[in-house]
Amino acid sequence: MTNNVPSLRAHKRRLGAAPIVMVTAYDEPTARYADAAGVDVLLVGDSLANVVLGHEDTLHVTTAEMAHHVRAVAAASPKAHIVADMPWLSYHVGTDAAVANAGELIRAGAQSVKLEGGAIRREVVRALLDAEIPVMGHLGLTPQSVLAFGGYKVQAKTRDAAKLLLEDALILQSEGIYCLVVEGVPRMVGTQLTEALDIPTIGIGAGPDTDGQVLVIHDLVGMTKRPPPKFVRRYADLGAAMTDAVARYAQDVRDGSFPGDDESYENPAELLD
Ligand code: KIV
Repeated sequence: MTNNVPSLRAHKRRLGAAPIVMVTAYDEPTARYADAAGVDVLLVGDSLANVVLGHEDTLHVTTAEMAHHVRAVAAASPKAHIVADMPWLSYHVGTDAAVANAGELIRAGAQSVKLEGGAIRREVVRALLDAEIPVMGHLGLTPQSVLAFGGYKVQAKTRDAAKLLLEDALILQSEGIYCLVVEGVPRMVGTQLTEALDIPTIGIGAGPDTDGQVLVIHDLVGMTKRPPPKFVRRYADLGAAMTDAVARYAQDVRDGSFPGDDESYENPAELLD
């Protein structure tokens, strides 16, 4: 598949498509390694704030910081589509500001932007699409709502809340988003949203039936400060591997075995004279 917006928009499993594979990336090497693994979409997520910059939540990154990391990911020239998160407050204070902020992310190398929220985002989605900027939606456990939610809690657990989520998804689809991330909902909600929508759903903690899956790369490779959430499957322990490598380097420096002959430049004959 070519990973542009029209091909992603058409990517429904019920039409025979393979699930969309999306991971986050925040820098050039990560984008390069993930792209070499054949992922379809790289998300420069605002999880940058907590995963890379050490903040408690995603509310602490700006558009300029996001653009800085989008530039690094784009420098890998990946085959994968690059989507960038619009950070908190970059699309909440008027459509002109939202278009300008999204434009900054596109000029940094993103091919589309993602934003959180449902019906309340109608106007901003319309303004971005009018400016030719493709939009991915994000519903359910939207991390930018952490203060309003009172924590990271599974959403849409009641019939009314699930109905509201479905209505929000249909509204976003009718406004023209090309894809929807669904986070932290009971698996039945993931299934029903996926059945109800013509655009693809990409789940994170939304069960196995969505049209794709996304994980935060640091969760997947074992580089997180805290134990990851239930929905994460860990495929490597790079954190432990890194600590081990650095500890062995420290040991070699301290006992004088690094650098050895192989890691030192030869003395030129002229200097030996
Ligand atoms: O910022 C992010 O990493 C995300 C994913 C959790 C979907 O939005």
